[in-house]
Amino acid sequence: MARKKRQALQVPELIVRKREGGQLSEQEIRDVVAGFMDGSVADYQMSALAMAVYFRGMSFEETVAMTLAMRDSGKVVSLDNVDAPKVDKHSTGGVGDKVSICLAPIVAACGVAVPMMSGRGLGHTGGTLDKLEAIPGFRVDLSVREFRAQLGKIGCALIGQTGDLAPADKRLYALRDVTGTVESIPLITSSILSKKLAEGIDSLVLDVKVGRGAFMKTESHARELARCLVRVGRLAGKRVSALLTDMHTPIGYTIGNALETTEALEVLHGQGPNDLQELTFELAAEMLRSAGVSKTRAQALRRVELAVRDGAALQKMRQIVEAQGGDPGVVDEPDRLAVARHRSTIKARSNGYVTEIDPLELGYASMGLGAGRSRAEDAVDPGAGIRLYVQLGDRVRTGDELATLYASERARVRGGADRVAASFRIGKRRPATRSRIIETIRR
Ligand code: URA
Repeated sequence: MARKKRQALQVPELIVRKREGGQLSEQEIRDVVAGFMDGSVADYQMSALAMAVYFRGMSFEETVAMTLAMRDSGKVVSLDNVDAPKVDKHSTGGVGDKVSICLAPIVAACGVAVPMMSGRGLGHTGGTLDKLEAIPGFRVDLSVREFRAQLGKIGCALIGQTGDLAPADKRLYALRDVTGTVESIPLITSSILSKKLAEGIDSLVLDVKVGRGAFMKTESHARELARCLVRVGRLAGKRVSALLTDMHTPIGYTIGNALETTEALEVLHGQGPNDLQELTFELAAEMLRSAGVSKTRAQALRRVELAVRDGAALQKMRQIVEAQGGDPGVVDEPDRLAVARHRSTIKARSNGYVTEIDPLELGYASMGLGAGRSRAEDAVDPGAGIRLYVQLGDRVRTGDELATLYASERARVRGGADRVAASFRIGKRRPATRSRIIETIRR
């Protein structure tokens, strides 16, 4: 019956209406998404509609309808077996972004459940799943049943997107990717939120990155996306907030899977680079605030710092790694993680200050070393990547080390050296540096 009703749906008329700047009703959006899933709406029609949305946009109401229709295209996980508030974080993706690996155990150690579903690396950005899999034995492919049980037991699970959640988004994203319709704020919003709302969370904190290494290149675009995500998430019944964060240089000193996991573990040991620590602590504090366990940012930050200082976050990480089949000894001895054997070190060719470290170029260079993938089916090399020795604004002398490249094949190291060298600019004037946190958006 439902199929018959959808066949009567005039998809060409809806496409034309959107193309001319009109609005679609909630029911029409639900029917289009359902028809896309059962095959009665063709891929070419869905692509044409995506292009019309790209040019004409969608109202908040249409975006909410799209988000909920895509959420409901698959399973919606119930986490009613978990007593604690359930909060996830989503990053729009950057270079050297290993935050999830230290953030999740910190927040879970503060009494908030973290059902974290992450992605794999594609293109210049890395993926949390690939970084976690650098830990020998670590399984990210838990079933929904295992995911629920682990959350009930230890309050945190770090897993990959299951095919059961928001399958309409997966299919639509595949079309958008090849039809020039990815960069649409309503489509990005419904894509991100449909997956997150299917996880059974109470609230969500978004890390919307801005800069050369990010999806959004300007602050105004990133702010527009963050506001849309927050507003649509709230209209969909969840507490959603966003941090706008700087992605003009790589985060921390490492790019590549095992290298980044090691650096994230350092944060749990109370060490690690300042910028990574700042980003992790601020996101963790926002998650505690959003979960209602801390009233103010200052209270939340104190709680987060204590969880690291007293070893509770580290202990939580050991539990997570053990529960997911990994070697928990790695948490205390990260040096045991893989490091690729072929190396090359890049040195400064002049005296001065580091005025630029191009994250996009370094992201692509890391991919070329084997740490990332250009097609979804490619394998990644856990030990490949780049270690930086400097950050923006550091003073260097000719011959000082700037970075080391790691790869399992000598040719890859040779092939990447010029690209890594070209990612650095050394100038006479010390550049202005700023916090990674640009703004918090809660409305
Ligand atoms: N990330 C997503 O999950 N979806 C988009 O559309 C863009 C980025």
